[in-house]
Amino acid sequence: MEILRTLEQIQTFSKKSKESGKIIGLVPTMGALHEGHLSLVEYARRQCDVVIVSIFVNPVQFGPNEDYTMYPRCFAQDCEKLQLAGVDAVFHPTAQEMYPNGYCTYVMVDGEITHTLCGTQRPGHFRGVATVVTKLIHLAQADKAFFGQKDAQQVVVVRTFTKDLNIPCSIITVPIVRETSGLARSSRNRYLSPVERKAACILSQSLRQAKDAYIRGNHNADSLKQLVTQHLQKEPLALIDYVSLYTYPGLEPIQIISEPCLLAIAVRIGTVRLIDNVILGGDPL
Ligand code: PAF
Repeated sequence: MEILRTLEQIQTFSKKSKESGKIIGLVPTMGALHEGHLSLVEYARRQCDVVIVSIFVNPVQFGPNEDYTMYPRCFAQDCEKLQLAGVDAVFHPTAQEMYPNGYCTYVMVDGEITHTLCGTQRPGHFRGVATVVTKLIHLAQADKAFFGQKDAQQVVVVRTFTKDLNIPCSIITVPIVRETSGLARSSRNRYLSPVERKAACILSQSLRQAKDAYIRGNHNADSLKQLVTQHLQKEPLALIDYVSLYTYPGLEPIQIISEPCLLAIAVRIGTVRLIDNVILGGDPL
């Protein structure tokens, strides 16, 4: 497994792979890898000849009061996991390499899809994601890029700007990987104390309840959101950021569910902000 740290190194690696006719898969990550990331790698392995995983905690997608400096960094452990998973190359640049002095170009998706859900709570977040993912896709010359369904809004944003900017890279969505308790795998789970981790199961439980109610015939968005809210409120450690239901992938408001919809939640357990979601009335993208 090659470790690439500079733009020149990744560009040389991708050029060689392209010239020998290989299909290049990119798995963009911020490191602190867990089963969810390894599932992205597994999908990429199956669909591509060469797999590049980027590990880069992207400063421009964090707000001033968010956890950029605190974000877990464990490069050596991550590399061990990726080596075992059969990854061909890891791209691990510094922030200075990606955003050198004088850097001033950003990709902004200026539609409702970035103004709802996490876009309201985290202004600038999707501009940062769109910018770094554009750069990574170009650097890797990726034919396919793999993203987890847990970040459903991110998937919509990435699909939108790759289509709008005619970037010839297929965006592949991979299902959410959960712990046996139901808790969706996330790098931020490691911040949870044992008590908080137990409390965090309330997220998936509440979504399960809503999904069951939907299957039993409740297609009313307000009623399903209320069900989730009431369930979350049973957990004293849970503080709700949002409980939202939008069409998917359009992310438009809806009252009576008659097309695939995204039921998405963001909840603080102690100081840790967790997100989770479920698709109602259809398969995820
Ligand atoms: O989902 C993430 O970990 C990040 O938003 C991504 C896609 C790696 C961009 O920094």
